[in-house]
Amino acid sequence: MQRERIVNLRDEAQVGREVLVQGWVRTFRNDQFIALNDGSCLGNLQLVIDREATNDDIKKRITTGAAIAAKGVIEASQGRGQVTELKVMELEILGDADPESFPIQMKRHTMEFLREKAHLRFRTSTFGAVFRVRHALNYAVHKFFTEQGFFQMHTPIITGSDAEGAGEMFQVTTLDLDNVPKTEDGTVDFAEDFFGKTANLTVSGQLEAELGAMALGQVYTFGPTFRAENSNTSRHLAEFWMIEPEVAFADLASNMKLAEDCLKAILRDVLAGCDEDLEFLENRELQAEKQLPQDQRHEAPLRARLQAVVDAPFQHVTYTEAIDLLQRSKPYKKKKFKYPVEWGVDLQSEHERWLVEKHFNGPVIITDYPASIKAFYMRQNDDGKTVAAMDVLVPGIGEIIGGSQREERLDRLQAKCAEFNIPEDHVWWYLDTRRFGSAVHSGFGMGFERLVMYVTGMTNIRDVIPFPRTPQNAEF
Ligand code: 4AD
Ligand code: MG
Repeated sequence: MQRERIVNLRDEAQVGREVLVQGWVRTFRNDQFIALNDGSCLGNLQLVIDREATNDDIKKRITTGAAIAAKGVIEASQGRGQVTELKVMELEILGDADPESFPIQMKRHTMEFLREKAHLRFRTSTFGAVFRVRHALNYAVHKFFTEQGFFQMHTPIITGSDAEGAGEMFQVTTLDLDNVPKTEDGTVDFAEDFFGKTANLTVSGQLEAELGAMALGQVYTFGPTFRAENSNTSRHLAEFWMIEPEVAFADLASNMKLAEDCLKAILRDVLAGCDEDLEFLENRELQAEKQLPQDQRHEAPLRARLQAVVDAPFQHVTYTEAIDLLQRSKPYKKKKFKYPVEWGVDLQSEHERWLVEKHFNGPVIITDYPASIKAFYMRQNDDGKTVAAMDVLVPGIGEIIGGSQREERLDRLQAKCAEFNIPEDHVWWYLDTRRFGSAVHSGFGMGFERLVMYVTGMTNIRDVIPFPRTPQNAEF
């Protein structure tokens, strides 16, 4: 008999069917009712066993976390909260879970505790919901770009280039660190290393995606990226996934439109397809926020917030205007901001959050940042001070997308390389696209985990990726 997934057994039409289910016990009460979860959906299937006919030895082994198989008939449920239940005829314990030592019990565990048990936290309702939604988001991303005529490009994970120029890279080497080969002048001889030169884990697939876009027209990468920045925040990971579209013949305005369309399409899909999980996450958030003072709670429940993003156009503001708004804000005047607000400095998350949560109260695209705080590849504006950059900020997260129109003029790009100390022979291939058939083009990067946080309402990025990598932490 083939295993049936619980998600398919929950409607009235299933009544009368004889089925086999396999899953993990969530609870067992009154020696009779098992709540079984097989991961196919948030909801459990209620199994009803024959109290008298089932021997005590078996009953003792029906504990939270145990894997079991049950054969029986689907019946209409008399109990509340479920349409169907399984009247069990045969029950088999597949794998015991000793209640003395199984750490995931049916009580509220803290997120910190569950992070230490990340190998088992999938067994909780919260993480089941988060990872099903994560999957749906992943699928929605590929669907959106495919429907828009993009081609996915697999950009390299090991790279010789530092796309963002931030130097926060993990080095990849096969050199024996206890016995490093040296050149005559005493420096490490990377000619002896695996690639014959230094290599790193990529911080972004953008530069390579640009090369693809300049032939295939519109491409996107969606892969893991790595940053060795020592920032221990709730929004940073050392390993995260990024979606990076790149479009030829597209300027900043169409880049902004693509970002907005993309985010909206993805939200629409998960709102339609993940209602049960989102409802659970919404209630979870409401519960958690009961303990917070009113002004720290969300104004609307999770799904309503996401729907509002779908329904309203994103607001646009230039960096210069944003600085002006911030300087006229209450927290600025009351000296509540920790970091300075003046033209030329990067916006900190406290500033982004004020803009997006207090002032605009919805997604905002900030454009035209000072050239000095942005990457070398961004297109210079005519004012000589700013570049055609865009960051998309959303409430609760801050920056979710960063992108720009790219500098397509060879001489300007070469000047930028010089200014940023990027040797031309390191990026000769990138410069070549500006030598041969150069054209206006644009793209952006969306942090996938930030997207998952946004959609699930989870407040720590470590809780939306199965096994987070952060400073001092690479367990599992
Ligand atoms: O703004 P970033 O650094 O932009 C780039 O890497 C460009 N090459 C993208 C492009 O134009 N193709 O990163 C893009 C996004 C951020 O907006 C944020 O959502 C996410 O990636 N991000 C991180 N997410 C988790 N942990 C980190 N350490 C992140 N750093 C950036
Ligand atoms: Mg950025």
